[in-house]
Amino acid sequence: GENHQLRREGSGPREHEICFDFGDGLHFEALHSRNESKLLPKHIHPVRQKRAWITAPVALREGEDLSRKNPIAKIHSDLAEEKKLKITYKYTGKGITEPPFGVFVFNKDTGELNVTTILDREETPFFLVTGYALDERGKNLEKPIELRIKVLDINDNEPVFTQDVFVGSVEELSAANTLVMKINATDADEPNTLNSKISYRIVSQEPANSPVFYLNKETPFFW
Ligand SMILES: *[C@@H]1O[C@H](CO)[C@@H](O)[C@H](O)[C@H]1NC(C)=O
Ligand SMILES: *[C@@H]1O[C@H](CO)[C@@H](O)[C@H](O)[C@H]1NC(C)=O
Ligand SMILES: *[C@@H]1O[C@H](CO)[C@@H](O)[C@H](O)[C@H]1NC(C)=O
Repeated sequence: GENHQLRREGSGPREHEICFDFGDGLHFEALHSRNESKLLPKHIHPVRQKRAWITAPVALREGEDLSRKNPIAKIHSDLAEEKKLKITYKYTGKGITEPPFGVFVFNKDTGELNVTTILDREETPFFLVTGYALDERGKNLEKPIELRIKVLDINDNEPVFTQDVFVGSVEELSAANTLVMKINATDADEPNTLNSKISYRIVSQEPANSPVFYLNKETPFFW
């Protein structure tokens, strides 16, 4: 019989700890101090998909020292206690056994996963790692578990014009509101968020005393 429940605990200095308790199989604990009650409704049941547990992603902010959030995750098998087995934990995936190497390190005895570097969302927005519980001969004692680690965006990129110079022209005697040129800039921060939203404005124009050009600040059109 499996016992699916989401347990909330307050343990030590960490305010919110979520533990997916599956009754049997590998457990996953998200051990970060963000306010999880915003991310997950209470009493949610983990979703089982073809014998693989889908776990909530661990969310880590880019551009900051994360060492005080360590360990960021932990896997645990009850078989160690139940059957008095010596279990070795292992993780594979991006940031561990695939480039960028060395982003995460783990403790093979405790199943704890630590982050070692400052993350850059523009470089790697998402890590998918797999956790294993192995017996003394290196055989899987449990079905491996997938852990998703999402890197949260901060506004750390300035907009960049797509060209050094934009050239526009307009015929004399053109009607008012004639399109003169389009300018364009891009921002490497997370798309469709405020961090990557760009607005445009004219800093100066000549002759300054009778300005004839205006610009639509939302869309990169130069009238
Ligand atoms: C966490 O979020 C809940 C619900 O939004 C709120 O009641 C609680 O005060 C928050 N706790 C912290 C430490 O921010
Ligand atoms: C992970 O971080 C914790 C807290 O700083 C530390 O106690 C532990 O030794 C670290 N483990 C590894 C494998 O680096
Ligand atoms: C702006 O430039 C980017 C990158 O070159 C391009 O993908 C986008 O379509 C351009 N937008 C407009 C409105 O021209």
